[in-house]
Amino acid sequence: MTDTLTPVLSANWADPKAWTLGAYQRRGGYDAAAKALKMTPAEVMGIVKDSGLRGRGGAGFPTGMKWSFVPQDNPNPKYLVVNADESEPGTCKDMPLLMASPHTLVEGILISSYAIGVHTAFIYCRGEVLHVIRRLQQAVKEAYAGGHLGSNIYGSGFDLDIIVHAGAGAYICGEETALLDSLEGRRGQPRLRPPFPAVAGLYASPTVINNVESIASVPSILAHGAAWFGSMGSEKSKGYTLYSLSGHVKRPGQFEAPLGITLRQLLELSGGMRDGHELKFWTPGGSSTPILTADDIDIPLDYEGMAAAGTMLGTKALQCFDETTSVVRTTLRWVEFYKHESCGKCTPCREGNWWLVQLLTKFEAGKAVEGDVDKLLDICDNIGGKSFCALADGAVACVTSAVKKFRSEFEAGYKTPAWELFPYERSALFDVEGGAK
Ligand SMILES: Cc1cc2nc3c(=O)[nH]c(=O)nc-3n(C[C@H](O)[C@H](O)[C@H](O)COP(=O)(O)O)c2cc1C
Ligand code: SF4
Repeated sequence: MTDTLTPVLSANWADPKAWTLGAYQRRGGYDAAAKALKMTPAEVMGIVKDSGLRGRGGAGFPTGMKWSFVPQDNPNPKYLVVNADESEPGTCKDMPLLMASPHTLVEGILISSYAIGVHTAFIYCRGEVLHVIRRLQQAVKEAYAGGHLGSNIYGSGFDLDIIVHAGAGAYICGEETALLDSLEGRRGQPRLRPPFPAVAGLYASPTVINNVESIASVPSILAHGAAWFGSMGSEKSKGYTLYSLSGHVKRPGQFEAPLGITLRQLLELSGGMRDGHELKFWTPGGSSTPILTADDIDIPLDYEGMAAAGTMLGTKALQCFDETTSVVRTTLRWVEFYKHESCGKCTPCREGNWWLVQLLTKFEAGKAVEGDVDKLLDICDNIGGKSFCALADGAVACVTSAVKKFRSEFEAGYKTPAWELFPYERSALFDVEGGAK
């Protein structure tokens, strides 16, 4: 494993007007698509499979394998849906990618659609990020005008249309089957599986759903080959990826590095924690991934390393909190999010997250009573694994991991408000006027 940054997706982000077709093509943009369309679809799929690319949306499912589940003999149209609904607390990689270089995704969609046999692809983008939606729409328009989309692309006989769809801003619509319901014009709620989307997805037709970063990684794999991609990363977690550092770090932002890098290395690259403070706890991949502590900063940030540590790589959103931060308060803020975003389809999640917020509010105010920590864990036990989709599992993961690692801080909530133990102005990143502290 290399230990330096590996800018591939982010290589052109600082170019003047990087988001335009001209700037993208000056760096060889769409050359990989032209190369791919001269191969057979099976060859293209084979390269992506061999590369070992795993989905960057959270679960790390092998991308090429997912594509191969699409039954080619199904007479219905096949669809590719790109999940650009990014909205997990802490997660902030797809939006910067789309703002800086939307053509990387458009080219990735072209190559991926060709491999799967798709002629209509959708980009489902979170509705609040209007600036990103406009940039995507403009990129798609430019790609049509430049002959990279539409009919008979590069004289290959292959046709592809891309539709940019704005969601209405609901976290649950990032869950792939809720996303499909939303795209079909229904209320976004998860679907029962099977059937899986690869067999009966959008409009009951075979559908591949992939994260923005997964599809945006495809052009570089076609350009440089599966072995090149596999030369980065660790044994089972290949390639480079975007790590998003946020919180009490000196230089927060996107760090594109090989899978398997450690938080210690990333903190060195980002200037470390803010002066005079030390790391207390962190999430490896957004608020749904169980928290880790300063003892864990040398564990490889790949799928296997994080699983062995009892957590998940998730979206690689590394939220770093220093010793001024109340774990109780942070957990409450996260669970408030899940309570708000629960789609309400199933009782344990709809009611349970509401109860968790009530109880955590008491802990924060120092008004919990003896035994409430166990009650908290009992409620979690009645939500996790007993709900319809993974939103609920993510909601309880932050609570159970926080109690496991910082139980005494919760027990302190029997007597003392969290704001007395951890005055909130000490952990604030900005002063009341909005200036950086
Ligand atoms: C509540 C919830 C929200 C999700 N939000 C997103 C999201 O915003 N973007 C995303 O790519 N995947 C999200 N996922 C994961 C998707 O369901 C799906 O696994 C992913 O889009 C597959 O893409 P990949 O194989 O390229 O990783 C979410 C899952 C859940 C349960
Ligand atoms: S677990 Fe929550 S978000 Fe998922 S279906 Fe049930 S109520 Fe909806």
